[in-house]
Amino acid sequence: MGALDGKIAIVTGTSRGVGVGVSRQLLLAGATVVGCSRRPLPGLPAAEGLGGVEGRAEQWVCDQGDHRAIDAFVQRVVDTYGRVDILVNNAGGTVPTPHAEDVPELVQQIQSSPASDDDFERTVAFHAYAVQMNLISPLWFAIRVYRQMRTQDGTGSIVNISSGAGHPAGSPSLVSYGAAKSGLNHLTRSLAEEWGPKARVNCLALGPTMTENFRAFVLGEQDPEGRAYFANVPLGRAGDPDEVGRTCVFLCSGEADYINGTTIEIDGGMLPGVLYDAGLKTITDLL
Ligand SMILES: NC(=O)c1ccc[n+]([C@@H]2O[C@H](COP(=O)([O-])OP(=O)(O)OC[C@H]3O[C@@H](n4cnc5c(N)ncnc54)[C@H](OP(=O)(O)O)[C@@H]3O)[C@@H](O)[C@H]2O)c1
Repeated sequence: MGALDGKIAIVTGTSRGVGVGVSRQLLLAGATVVGCSRRPLPGLPAAEGLGGVEGRAEQWVCDQGDHRAIDAFVQRVVDTYGRVDILVNNAGGTVPTPHAEDVPELVQQIQSSPASDDDFERTVAFHAYAVQMNLISPLWFAIRVYRQMRTQDGTGSIVNISSGAGHPAGSPSLVSYGAAKSGLNHLTRSLAEEWGPKARVNCLALGPTMTENFRAFVLGEQDPEGRAYFANVPLGRAGDPDEVGRTCVFLCSGEADYINGTTIEIDGGMLPGVLYDAGLKTITDLL
């Protein structure tokens, strides 16, 4: 018996990184998982090598920057499985930029925000993209899924993946991303109040979590294992995507039936701001 047996889950951003750990743990808990990303893939990466998940794992294309694509994607899940019980709004992220007012071309390329030869245009588009991907698109996804959940029996569960960068202490080098994640924490609370009892809405604020992109773009070549970096985290290491996934399983299970509107920090106990002392701006080394 799994904690999520029979549940139908949507997880965004499942082609790599945190989304793989989240979808793997939901599968292990018994849920059917439909993941998405912009690129077509032959199957849900988390299902590779897992036994007993035949017929319970799908990876479909959906660009969350397009609200029509979100609408069509959720409708396809409903047409295929009849309902949606869980949404994990995971797709998002950013690249630290040394100066908010001057986003370099390399940062724009890594982030895949709109390109421009004009400095100012590139910079403003980068910030608009960060807010779209980390605040507006998760809200669009949540609204679309809730419009389904409100027609079903029971209480659905929505989990927004946020970041310690949203802490009120501020996040230099992550200005628009931090503001968007702070907004995500806030709208979690508001939606929880509006949408109960048809849906519970909670949030996970991640600290440093080891993914390929984190290793390449944050730790960089000077500290590939993150020794200096993680010395500032009380648990002395990065988080693991599967640890995030296990907390999602808890929040989406009956064990968390009365948890609504909360943001849980998964960050090894680090204090806001300490990562700046440890060199969060290492992206500048890549420039
Ligand atoms: N890793 C960390 O240390 C850390 C810390 C704090 C918070 N977080 C949060 O955790 C979440 C996942 O981060 P991550 O580190 O796993 O990032 P990641 O490795 O860059 O993965 C992002 C995922 O989102 C997908 N994606 C990107 N744009 C998309 C779009 N427009 N529509 C649909 N899917 C899209 C990507 O696939 P495609 O590129 O193929 O579309 C990929 O599967 C993000 O919300 C991030 O802010 C991460």
